[in-house]
Amino acid sequence: MSGINYSEKIPNNVNLAEDRTLQRALEQWQPNFLSWWGDVGPEGSNDYDVYLRTAISVDPQGWAQFGYVKMPDYRWGIFLNPKEEGRRIHFGDHQGEGAWQDVPGEHRANLRRIIVTQGDTEPASVEQQRHLGLTAPSLYDLRNLFQVNVEEGRHLWAMVYLLHRYFGRDGREEAEGLLERRSGDEDNPRILGAFNERTPDWLSFFMFTYFTDRDGKFQLSALAESGFDPLARTTRFMLTEEAHHMFVGESGVSRIVQRTCDVMNQLKTDNPETLRAAGVIDLPTIQRYLNFHYSVTIDLFGADESSNAAIFYSSGLKGRYEEGKRGDDHRLKSDAYRVLEVRDGKLVEKEVPMLNALNEVLRDDYIKDSVSGVGRWNRVIEKAGISFKLTVPHKAFNRQIGTLSGVRVAPDGTVVSQAQWDAHKDQWLATDEDRAFVASLMGRVVEPGRFANWIAPPVMGINRQPMDFEYVRFN
Ligand SMILES: [Fe+2]
Ligand SMILES: [Fe+2]
Repeated sequence: MSGINYSEKIPNNVNLAEDRTLQRALEQWQPNFLSWWGDVGPEGSNDYDVYLRTAISVDPQGWAQFGYVKMPDYRWGIFLNPKEEGRRIHFGDHQGEGAWQDVPGEHRANLRRIIVTQGDTEPASVEQQRHLGLTAPSLYDLRNLFQVNVEEGRHLWAMVYLLHRYFGRDGREEAEGLLERRSGDEDNPRILGAFNERTPDWLSFFMFTYFTDRDGKFQLSALAESGFDPLARTTRFMLTEEAHHMFVGESGVSRIVQRTCDVMNQLKTDNPETLRAAGVIDLPTIQRYLNFHYSVTIDLFGADESSNAAIFYSSGLKGRYEEGKRGDDHRLKSDAYRVLEVRDGKLVEKEVPMLNALNEVLRDDYIKDSVSGVGRWNRVIEKAGISFKLTVPHKAFNRQIGTLSGVRVAPDGTVVSQAQWDAHKDQWLATDEDRAFVASLMGRVVEPGRFANWIAPPVMGINRQPMDFEYVRFN
């Protein structure tokens, strides 16, 4: 008998103690997870006491508790939202049948692929963010970074639970693979492009949590509709945590914009050089970062026309965002959708079968959602009386995946030649020089209640703690 009681060590609402085989499998995976965390998790952080939120149940009224935790001791739990009795598959060819409690053999390979692809993004982002703690602009921000990191770790647990519980031996192998791939590694990279990019500074981090964690929200929302009930229930709970990640991004960028605007008004200038000399990030640089993160993130939704997307939907594995709120037949066999293509050097719309365009449908829903936060950043600029507007670039801008990867498109949607692209690229995307400048501002601020010069303090503390609360103790 094992000396470790994992039903206590891993908080869970899945009766882990009653399934000895599963318990043993996770028991073997756990040390590997911890050694992965030690190798490529938050750098140098093992001894810190961090004021963290830990998920303890799925009760919306009290699902988490706050307290000081050393991150390697964080209790990464397994939580599924409660089962809805009599839940039915509500889209695709199996519409009306009871939701699956087990993996249907015919959909096994596709389901595994969906779960692995989602699971792979979770540890990837921890790896991408691992050096950021060394340059946190405040204890408040450092704590938020670590909160995001431990929760991405928990999301990995969530997917690994499904792999172990429902996919037998190949599930266990996939769970090992999730700890073996590395973000940005040449030989064994993470599965999706954006998760192999670097997140070298805090402006990148906030853009990433605003844009790329929001991709997570949309993917998880689509999986929360799944006919495979355990996947739907797991992803629903993950969405509870995801909201905080996007808050970190939105408020982080907002505070940077606020600080820049304050200094613009103090110095009565919009000259990037002057502002940079004053130690804040000029708005055009913020725009170029935005262009990069936005374009890289919308690639994550995949090719605009995809037979896999059609199969995932028709077989009931992955729905649309808010599938249940839509008024159509939820089969979509005779519906059409407009996607972009290039004809005679121009972007034009063409109609394709909706089922094949479901990646594009999800991307467009994502775009609507992300634009609204950019509007809130613009209100900060407006309030400061400055005439500058941040915008999201055209969705054909800087694409690497799908039809649009074959053309060069300016942020305003104009198709341009390669020569024009080369001539303007530095105005559209963050340059090495921009990144070097932003990096030059990064320096760790650890005094409670103090913030780096390039970012404004937040409006409120975490869990209603005061601003000068000691969110992280270094020991
Ligand atoms: Fe996540
Ligand atoms: Fe996230």
